[in-house]
Amino acid sequence: MSSSTTQIFKNPRAKHNFQGRTCSIAGVGSYVPAKIVTNADLAKIVDTSDEWITTRTGIKERHVAAENEFTSDLGTAAAQAAMKKAGITADQIDLIIVATITPDMPFPSTACLVQRKIGARRAAAFDLEAACSGFIYALEIGQQFIMSRTYDTVLVIGAEKLSSITDWTDRNTCVLFGDGAGAAILQSRENAHGLLTAVMGADGEKADLLFMPGGGSRCPASAESVNSRMHYLRMEGKETFKNAVQAMQTAAEEALRRCELDISRIKCIIPHQANRRIIDAVGERLGAKPEQLFVNLDKYGNTSAASVAIALDEAVESGRVQRGDLILLVVFGAGLTWGAAVIEW
Ligand code: ACO
Repeated sequence: MSSSTTQIFKNPRAKHNFQGRTCSIAGVGSYVPAKIVTNADLAKIVDTSDEWITTRTGIKERHVAAENEFTSDLGTAAAQAAMKKAGITADQIDLIIVATITPDMPFPSTACLVQRKIGARRAAAFDLEAACSGFIYALEIGQQFIMSRTYDTVLVIGAEKLSSITDWTDRNTCVLFGDGAGAAILQSRENAHGLLTAVMGADGEKADLLFMPGGGSRCPASAESVNSRMHYLRMEGKETFKNAVQAMQTAAEEALRRCELDISRIKCIIPHQANRRIIDAVGERLGAKPEQLFVNLDKYGNTSAASVAIALDEAVESGRVQRGDLILLVVFGAGLTWGAAVIEW
């Protein structure tokens, strides 16, 4: 523990006389499919324009997976990039958690398919579903296994092929989403606090704001469910927007409060990349300076569980984040779910 870092934040675990290990992100990686769909491309298939999409969302383009490229493929590529950066091999991985709302299939889990593709034979594997909040939920769960010394190396992935559940005839939603994956290797690193705290929240009362009605036990696939377009996501945009701003503010403030940190101490705020206006509103409510906010949604749109993981990788790769810096991740998604995490990088 360096003396400079102890002066600027409190490790919230200290008050519980924490005896476990700390958990750090040893490496992060990401992958997006090659095909790019621009706003101009979308204007050819639905009644929209680059001007509308840019001013209402900030999105300029998104990546879309090939027909034969699945969520497990995107997750595998991101995982391999993260493993390389962490300097680990597949046989070191004890556990794989994949956060996704677009698994390759209802079962087996996408985590098992990734396990096979990367050859992590020793690893346990499971999926987690918390929509766009999935990566922070997965980080929080993964770190429990590291801190408790149950496992030494956990692979956490956020991966989505949202194009497979996007209604390409609905201009209200099809302009918002994209495909991609991000991954992180969790390990305990000496002399580092790593993941300081993670806040998770949910409000099932608002489950109807953003959902996909078909394909589950309530409405299994049938000719009727297909004809009624039930296998595509549906969203109340305005209500989702309002709830997103409120929930992200509350989660971020709680995470900062636990660490006794003022927002000015955060080097880089990495919010869920759903809408530029949501990000700006959250930044303003938190009292953040615009330059503290990391934004890459112009290139990717909303990639749900992959969103903050891809952004974290880009922030690190571009040098926006250096070892020892404090990062705030803050997310929001269907469920409703939300989360925030403070990390000493
Ligand atoms: N092109 C042109 N016009 C459009 C488009 C489009 N792509 N989409 C909607 N419109 C129209 C609407 O039909 C509406 O027309 P009307 O007034 O004639 O009915 C008009 O534009 C205005 O619609 P608004 O709802 O007022 O637009 P708003 O400013 O709220 O922006 C948006 C809509 C972008 C969806 C916004 O509400 C939003 O970002 N909401 C949050 C979405 C979100 O973050 N979802 C992801 C959550 S994370 C997860 O778990 C997946």
